[in-house]
Amino acid sequence: MKDSSKIGGDEEFDQRNKKFVNSMNKNKSLLKKSKDWIDNVFDYEYVYHFRWLGRPIIQFPQDMIALQELIWNTKPDFIIESGIARGGSLIFHASILELLNHGKVIGIDIDIRKHNRKEIENHPLFKRIKLIEGSSIDDSVINQIKKIIKNKKKIMVLLDSHHTEQHVLEELKKYSSFVKSGSYIIVFDTVIEDLKKHHSTNRPWGHGNNPRTAISKFLKNNKRFKIDKEIHKKLLITSCPDGYLKCIKN
Ligand SMILES: C[S@@+](CC[C@H](N)C(=O)[O-])C[C@H]1O[C@@H](n2cnc3c(N)ncnc32)[C@H](O)[C@@H]1O
Repeated sequence: MKDSSKIGGDEEFDQRNKKFVNSMNKNKSLLKKSKDWIDNVFDYEYVYHFRWLGRPIIQFPQDMIALQELIWNTKPDFIIESGIARGGSLIFHASILELLNHGKVIGIDIDIRKHNRKEIENHPLFKRIKLIEGSSIDDSVINQIKKIIKNKKKIMVLLDSHHTEQHVLEELKKYSSFVKSGSYIIVFDTVIEDLKKHHSTNRPWGHGNNPRTAISKFLKNNKRFKIDKEIHKKLLITSCPDGYLKCIKN
């Protein structure tokens, strides 16, 4: 096998990686181990244990790397995220946009706690962030978003709020019109469908009723988006298997 440091241009390097990713995804034992690992770490609230530039972010670090790649590749004018929690993901997006010197973030949450709002508003990257309090599917929230984005073309949407099928499907219907060819909608927590049942105890979502089932219903009637399988195939560890949706036509 060729030493990877001896590989020439990016194209050759990418082709080589693609081959490895494909063969990695044929390794049933590795796929099972990855699934088991995710299931296991959920028992310890693994995704809560990280911060981005000071704020807690509730994500797998692998998904953060994938997001960074997507933001770099698509250079969005706006990143809209439903589900803010403690603000770490908003700060994450804002920090990458700051490096690009382009774009703003809109964060929507039904309940922006006072202490979280204070920390987010005092953060140096708040200059790239707008907060909207309300339910992500509320018409008044959608109208506020429309006013902010006006006629900007490149919009990336991240859905990470209430994880029932009904809510996510409604979000997909309402937010997909903002996203144009080449941009993405990322639907978080599709992994709920793969996790053991006890992870959804006392939750209004679970097997058969979660972001993954919402995507299946959405894609039956919407041919503008397709699942970008290459992303979760290379991550293996992700909260969004089948959740990276690429817009393929306007
Ligand atoms: C998983 S957390 C978001 C995590 C955040 N994106 C991050 O990466 O750090 C989910 C958030 O969704 C919010 N939420 C729940 N229902 C909502 C709704 N109908 N509309 C908007 N936000 C909602 C909750 O208040 C909570 O803060």
